[in-house]
Amino acid sequence: MAAKAVGCAGELMRVLGLETTCDETAAAIVRLNPNGRGEIICDEIMSQIKEHAAYGGVVPEIAARAHVEAIDGLVRRALAKAGVKIRDLDGIAAAGGPGLIGGVMVGLTTGKALALACGKRFIAINHLEAHALTARLTDGVDFPYLLLLMSGGHTQLIAVKGVGNYERIGTTLDDALGEAFDKVAKMLGLAYPGGPKVEAQANLGDPLRFDLPRPMLRRPNADFSLSGLKTAVRLEVEKLGQLSSDDIADLCASFQAAVVDVLIDRTRAGLRRFHDSCGAPTALVVAGGVAANMTIRRALNRFAAEAGLRVVLPPPELCTDNGAMIAWAGIERLRLGLASGMDFAPRARWPLDENAARVHNGKA
Ligand code: KG4
Ligand code: ZN
Repeated sequence: MAAKAVGCAGELMRVLGLETTCDETAAAIVRLNPNGRGEIICDEIMSQIKEHAAYGGVVPEIAARAHVEAIDGLVRRALAKAGVKIRDLDGIAAAGGPGLIGGVMVGLTTGKALALACGKRFIAINHLEAHALTARLTDGVDFPYLLLLMSGGHTQLIAVKGVGNYERIGTTLDDALGEAFDKVAKMLGLAYPGGPKVEAQANLGDPLRFDLPRPMLRRPNADFSLSGLKTAVRLEVEKLGQLSSDDIADLCASFQAAVVDVLIDRTRAGLRRFHDSCGAPTALVVAGGVAANMTIRRALNRFAAEAGLRVVLPPPELCTDNGAMIAWAGIERLRLGLASGMDFAPRARWPLDENAARVHNGKA
């Protein structure tokens, strides 16, 4: 659908995006160029990691308060850096869920208030849709593609067929991948968030020392299960008692090696299911914080090369939570005429594929 020509010469659309669903407050402005490609004008982010670190995980009340304190300043900074006034925007997008409800309310209310006060269109964005569409901003990927989303809250394989058209092919039956990394880190006394710490230790360790399980391997479905692997690490920790630095490094390396085997096997199963339901994908697209892991990135690159499939791994800062992905999803929706009403209510749970069965962890 053709977009209305607005803003600077040759520019079709400019949208502000707000992200507040977890522990990052972010505000970004993205513009749509006439060639159909997006361009990030500015991407401001404030991480709350330090405020949660003492508790070993995200504390919802602390997160909500920190979002309230940060968001106005971030929006002001984003507009100033971009040299843009609110009146120059075509729309304001805010993540409407899924996520921690207190945080979602902060971003959503800010977005609605700005849109209402300045007469702009408002777009409530599904945070998972924003992750799913990022590869179109960074690499112009065409539909349909297979998305592997792995973050602290989600582990899913999704057929992305169009804006708002998603089929969940696989999901985790228990822990999310990032959550498993974080829990293993905690067991080993490594600081939150544990993913990067486990990766750094794994680089020093022996992946063959501990024979850890590979749950779901070779199952015909494309689902994940990570709690058994996490428990196996816990049992090894209990057996060892006092952990030496070699023990920690070897446990991390063995855990990461098991994760890689599971991930590749499940992605292979997901690809088969994708072919059955929608033919050949244009690419395998990877998103979510765990996609920052270099060993996992290398394994996915190898897998895709063997499968003759294009793989798209956005830069790590666009794999983790950010405002640009929300702004871009706003553009994708706005150019199809899909603005939201001011009555949009925050959603703690908001599956991308509303038809997919709910799994018991409620994270699907
Ligand atoms: O997507 P994200 O920034 O936030 C959400 O959960 O939505 O993902 C954060 C997750 C955390 O669990 C973190 O430990 C994990 O991604 N993570 C990693 C790495 N960097 C971040 N996991 C493994 N290796 C990494 N290098
Ligand atoms: Zn996320």
